[in-house]
Amino acid sequence: MFDFAQIVPYIPFILNGIKVTLQVTLLSVVLGFIWGSILALIKISNIRILKWLAVAYTSVFRGTPLILQLTFIYFATPQIFGYNISKFEAAVLTFTLNSGAYISETIRAGILAVDKGQWEAAKALGVPYRQMMIDIILPQALKNILPALVNETIALLKESALVSTIGLADIMQNANIVKGTIFRYFEPYLIAGALYYVMVMLLTWLAHGLERRLRRSD
Ligand code: ARG
Repeated sequence: MFDFAQIVPYIPFILNGIKVTLQVTLLSVVLGFIWGSILALIKISNIRILKWLAVAYTSVFRGTPLILQLTFIYFATPQIFGYNISKFEAAVLTFTLNSGAYISETIRAGILAVDKGQWEAAKALGVPYRQMMIDIILPQALKNILPALVNETIALLKESALVSTIGLADIMQNANIVKGTIFRYFEPYLIAGALYYVMVMLLTWLAHGLERRLRRSD
């Protein structure tokens, strides 16, 4: 039966995991955004080889399981590069590389969705490509994909529970440890689940709020 008295002393320990979960998620989404932007710009450019590489990259990272990518990077990096990668580094690197692939497609679609008239007007005015991108196209594209980026953050937040498989002390891992300490499953995972849910709901509100504001400003 439930016995919340037993779990109470361990609640702070599970709460400790929030910091790692948030760090991995936010760092990865910011770095993934930068990496995804670069990939997206390459994909809409006309540098054939780079374009092909970016497309192949995206295909691989979206076409293999995230848990495999994480395991691969954590365990293969020391073997291949002789670098003793930490759990945290492996987590952020994997989620950045993975998210970059997804975000690059979001950004690419966002860029291509900017009204053709904007590109034509810029061209007609003789605005150079770089400046057109930075001052005209990207700001409009970003505005439109903002809610999608919050959704990507939500996806990453939940996927970040996978870092428990390499033993990084996030919410999930700490719940695992508590389970192994008090031999009760229900309470630790209920608490972990509630924590994820609250964080996801907060982000969901943010996404809805953004959508509403963007619609109003149109
Ligand atoms: N669940 C997917 C997998 O196991 C990973 C999805 C990652 N999603 C993302 N938006 N970055 O491969």
